[in-house]
Amino acid sequence: MREIRGDRLERPLALTGLLLLLACRGPADLSAQVVADTTGVQLYDVGCASCHGQDGRGADPDKVAFDIPLPDFSDCSFASREPDADWIAVAHQGGPVRGFDRTMPAFGEAFSETQLQAIIDHIRTFCGDPKWPRGELNFPRPLITEKAFPEDEFVYELGVRTESPGAVGNAFVYERRFGSKSQIEIALPFGFQDLTPRDPLTVPADSAESGWKGGLGDIGVGLKHVLLHSLTSGTILSGTFEIKLPTGTTSNGFGAGTTRLEPFLTFGQVLPGESFLQGQGGFEISTNTEKTSHEAFWRAALGRSWTQGRWGRAWTPMVEILGSSELESGGATHWSLVPQLQVTLNKRQHIIANIGVGLPLDDTEVRRPEILFYVLWEWFDGGFFAGW
Ligand code: HEC
Repeated sequence: MREIRGDRLERPLALTGLLLLLACRGPADLSAQVVADTTGVQLYDVGCASCHGQDGRGADPDKVAFDIPLPDFSDCSFASREPDADWIAVAHQGGPVRGFDRTMPAFGEAFSETQLQAIIDHIRTFCGDPKWPRGELNFPRPLITEKAFPEDEFVYELGVRTESPGAVGNAFVYERRFGSKSQIEIALPFGFQDLTPRDPLTVPADSAESGWKGGLGDIGVGLKHVLLHSLTSGTILSGTFEIKLPTGTTSNGFGAGTTRLEPFLTFGQVLPGESFLQGQGGFEISTNTEKTSHEAFWRAALGRSWTQGRWGRAWTPMVEILGSSELESGGATHWSLVPQLQVTLNKRQHIIANIGVGLPLDDTEVRRPEILFYVLWEWFDGGFFAGW
């Protein structure tokens, strides 16, 4: 009992001493690391440990006066995926700023942002395993270019051709992480298209092959693994192997009619001023070149995020450039441009939408512009209706 009281008394005293020292000597005298190490631990103990526990696992539920479950900061799977900026927002403004409970108090008046950063730096030490890539490397998802970061995500994608003959493509994509660096992905495409012949003389417009037809596309199953990641340099590189099965309703023009194998690399790089570059490059290997040829493809997305107000919604305009080339003699090379705008929809920022337009740059007689859209749900961060 005495020990506990002594412990409680000493910490604020040590903290006052340290703050006095900082005030007298000026923070410039101490290296940033010392400030982070010392004040981070001390401030955490004073401000956060009563609820979050000395070890970051959350205080014993019997010892706190609320029944909201506490996060476990030592659980790398949870902690590594949260970028510092989100935790600082929660610590500064309180839980409700990210759709969490108000039991998580606001510390914006008590601590400066530098102090909050030092506290977060200390919280980061609770997950001591550097294998897990950090949330800062989880860049906004472009419409076409695949991400390097492994995700727990559910996405609905939509593409609508803007000119006749009309076509609507949809896909449900499910992604699930396993281990520190891996992810599996399943994509289920389906669509509708207008098969009414443009020249009614060749096929009468009311024939069986005419009109809007629906069908399933080629189901894709992929395995992604992070090959390297560094928070210091702001880089992440992953390799993916995907197999596309011939499940498409070929009679209505869906799917390639043969199995295709897709090995590709994806990378992301932090650029100055909240901007980023993402890239993807690989091959689509056909198992039956009579039906579809081998292809090489490359994609890049450049973007920047803006926060509405100091802590609000994130708006991310991006532009993608897409290229592909059929690997056969006389095979065509195609380019497209995809300007787009991504926005977080709810406070938790785990429900996100993106809208853009796919603009073919060649063969524009056949390749038509498309409106592209997705809504994604990072299901690990809570239910679809949580955190609005
Ligand atoms: C009065 C108890 C209490 C104190 C003190 C407290 N927290 Fe919390 N904190 C909570 C609760 C409860 C939650 C979970 C809220 C929820 O899930 O809705 C939480 C959640 C959080 C989260 C969100 C984690 C996530 O899921 O992304 C962060 C970050 C956080 N706290 C940081 C801090 C920091 C930093 C301090 C000290 C400066 C602190 N907390 C002090 C109760 C507290």
